[in-house]
Amino acid sequence: MSFKRAGSNLVACCPFHSERSPSFTLFSPGDHYYCFGCGAGGDVISFVMRIENLDYMAALEYLANLAGMRMPENEAMAQERTDKNKYYDMNKKAARFFYEKLVSPSGKAGLDYLRGRGLSDEIIRRFGLGFASTSSDELTGYLMREGFTPKEMKNGFLCGISENTKRPYDYFRGRVMFPIIDISGKVCAFGGRIIGDGVPKYLNSSDTPVFKKSRTLFALNFARSSGKDFLILCEGYMDVIALHAAGFTNAVATLGTALTSEQARLMRKYTSNVLICYDSDEAGKNAAKRAINILKEVDLSVKVISLKGAKDPDEYIKLNGKSSFESVIANASGHIEYVFNDMASKYNFEAPEDKLSFAKEVCAMLSGVESRLERDVYLGKVNELTGIDAGVLRQELERAGAQSIRNAKLKQTENDIRTALGYSDKVNPEKIKYPSACAKEEGIIGILLIHPEYMLDDKLRECVDPESFVCAFNKKAVTAVTEAMKRYSEDHSGAVPGSEKFDFSRLAGELSPDETGALMRMRIARERLSDNSPEVLKELTEALAAEKRKLSVSAVTTPEQAAERIKRLRDLKNSGENQN
Ligand code: UTP
Ligand code: MN
Repeated sequence: MSFKRAGSNLVACCPFHSERSPSFTLFSPGDHYYCFGCGAGGDVISFVMRIENLDYMAALEYLANLAGMRMPENEAMAQERTDKNKYYDMNKKAARFFYEKLVSPSGKAGLDYLRGRGLSDEIIRRFGLGFASTSSDELTGYLMREGFTPKEMKNGFLCGISENTKRPYDYFRGRVMFPIIDISGKVCAFGGRIIGDGVPKYLNSSDTPVFKKSRTLFALNFARSSGKDFLILCEGYMDVIALHAAGFTNAVATLGTALTSEQARLMRKYTSNVLICYDSDEAGKNAAKRAINILKEVDLSVKVISLKGAKDPDEYIKLNGKSSFESVIANASGHIEYVFNDMASKYNFEAPEDKLSFAKEVCAMLSGVESRLERDVYLGKVNELTGIDAGVLRQELERAGAQSIRNAKLKQTENDIRTALGYSDKVNPEKIKYPSACAKEEGIIGILLIHPEYMLDDKLRECVDPESFVCAFNKKAVTAVTEAMKRYSEDHSGAVPGSEKFDFSRLAGELSPDETGALMRMRIARERLSDNSPEVLKELTEALAAEKRKLSVSAVTTPEQAAERIKRLRDLKNSGENQN
């Protein structure tokens, strides 16, 4: 990242979204950031959490390592580590159990299935594949004997608890098992494929204390050290395994969901080139187009493979072999070419209407392409396909370019207005419903972040009552902030975090990076106001309490509530008159 000075702060292009003019701001003295474009914000720790895709603890460790320190641990951290290790240990034992089962006589159905799909015993071992029998308590029974509780197994997505008997039962039954291994080499989750037909075809672990699906890629533990300068992105477990078996050990897959930007950033850590190799059906093509955009956002260079005569890479390799796939890789399309060909395939170039629509669609797409050379190449192709004069096409492209700049500006303005009004808030979706209460809540939180020492004052502390908060997110945030201050003061024999700015890392364990970003925004908004005195804080809490009373009388569903409402409205009116 390259920074430019802007007043006492530094600005740069934001690493979390794609932009050409810098809106990422590092506030002096350099320990807090906020992006006015995408709303990312927080401190050093939340920055590392976001950019390195780490959780709070791992980010701390990362920073400690950078500084050449051993990580200091408090009790809560030590506890979290122990908890996580417990889940890793449970997963490791489960994976071994599934594997042992697979290679035992009672796992014959599973082993036959995998061999039937062409997997060698060696590749089965390398991926640690396994078998979950149709029994409903084989794994849970084993794990209980190993000392794990039903609650742990449930939180680790290995069992459910029966409503009737209250006993745990195995989640994965009658399936071949694919352990998912994180980049530190630990089993963090499982996918299980049904043997034969049935639904769901694949069952995947949901998020657990050691697994976040949106941040994990299957087989990245192998692919990261494949020695190749690109990663192959596929849709499925079997695709990846078939590719690895054929020597393409740089293949990875998402886990039953569309590619996320977190996964794109994760890939970016290991490579600058991604080759998309999705299924050849319509769904696969559409998914590929979406994936292109997500990968381009983080500046990855992207190529796409289109497979002919096979539904997915697994089938392709089986039908055509390894060297054929090598030539498919060599002939992969650049992402623009791919989108261009896809557009072309939808039109009939005999029909004049179609020629026109096609030319327009391509020009709109090319208006987003930076390289003049590349634009010219595709204009030439459109000319060939449609016979439309090159000069005319160039004019259309210019028009489309101007239009797309206008659209972008319009969208930016719209976004600015929305952000200013507080609409379309990802973190606090209730903002649009309760704008007035929300403004006060954000004010209160903003002031607390600037002046933690206000919480030393008993009276002020009483004023700030999370229960009076209307928006669920703000309520959670103010609770986290006041609790963090309380903890600090308990740890430091009654002292407050001091008049120095509030340290966000105290919240990073409880709030996501997006959420700390929202808090950062609240603080910045207040810093721009001159009056953040205790009096203003008190006024805001009073105004919020009044707001809450108003809201609580506005929802009426029964006659009793209506009568109650009239009474409260009367009270409100009276108290208003008394004040005047
Ligand atoms: P596919 O339906 O293409 O399966 O789903 P596949 O990979 O070709 O698997 P086989 O060859 O039939 O065994 C692609 C991926 O989507 C996810 C899985 O990760 C799968 O590998 N998926 C699919 C699910 O998570 N659940 C499902 O029910 C189906
Ligand atoms: Mn498939």
